[in-house]
Order: sequence, then C-alpha cells, then structure tokens
Amino acid sequence: MAEDLLIAKGTKEEQYESLLPQIKALLEGEPDLIANLANITGALKEQFNWLWIGFYLVKPSCAKASEGENDELVLGPFQGPVACTRIKKGRGVCGTSWANAKTLIVPDVEKFPGHIACSSLSRSEIVVPIIRNNKVLGVLDADSIEPDQYDNIDQKYLEQIIDIINF
Ligand code: SME
Repeated sequence: MAEDLLIAKGTKEEQYESLLPQIKALLEGEPDLIANLANITGALKEQFNWLWIGFYLVKPSCAKASEGENDELVLGPFQGPVACTRIKKGRGVCGTSWANAKTLIVPDVEKFPGHIACSSLSRSEIVVPIIRNNKVLGVLDADSIEPDQYDNIDQKYLEQIIDIINF
C-alpha cells in the first residue's frame, strides 16, 4: 500500500468507490485495531474533509458496576476538534445508535432531542454502529458543518467500511 491516499473527485459514490479499496489495502494484514481505526479516520477526513470523523468504542465505565451493566462509549481514534470522551447508552446520537443498533442520519442536529454538541460548528451527523455477533461494539460518527450532509449513500459505504474491520 502506497503511503499517499489517492483523493478522488466526482460524485459521492465515485469518491467512496475510490476510497473503499484503498481502505481495504490499508487494513490488509494489519491486526492492530487502533491502528486500523486511526487510518480509517485519516482516509475519510482526507477524502471528505468533514468537520469530525471518529470512533467511539463500548468499554466499561469508570463507575463500579457488575460487568456489562455500566458500559459506555469511550472516545477512540478520530480526526477533527477535541470531543467529549464518554457517552452513555441512549444519550445523544451516538448513544441512541448504540441503544437501537441502527445507523442514524441526522440532517439537522438542532432538531435531534438530546444531541450532544461536541462542536458548535456541527450541523448534521451520521452514526453507524459496529455490530458483531448481535452486539454493538462501538460506533463510527461523522459530523459536518453543512446541514443535510449525509444520506443513504454515506450509510451504504460507511457500513461497508465498518464491515471490513476485523474486530
Ligand atoms: N454529537 C454526538 C457526540 C459526539 S461528537 O459529535 C464528536 C452525539 O450527539 O452523540
């Protein structure tokens, strides 16, 4: 894999179609999860230049509780402005995507009840859950300064990217 990413122009589909094989090549033969998540965020940021792109991973919370009962989303590899570190299940767009095990597309973050504003510049958002063996292990979150940035094309390709990660 060359070190440089080939940045495609064209439609959104064309951009994803160019990016997907490059992400596959980046991940090939690399077992380290954090390295792979970091490179995925780098590749998406370079191609699309969204405000924020990153992962939150389901981990035990700091508070003492029996195992699994008190998990929360903890910030993982990302590109963009600093972000909130921990998100509880059912909170914000990320915590709701986790609770429902469903991709959420939010055209206007101000209209999403409980949206967590890590950056006041964010206008729209997509959150894709990472599901293995019927369990949500984390989410991929993308934020844009443009309203209505994300649609079913983003959902389709981001879910494909999530699928190739070896969790
Ligand atoms: N907006 C998200 C929080 C994470 S940041 O956008 C990076 C939410 O409502 O869950």
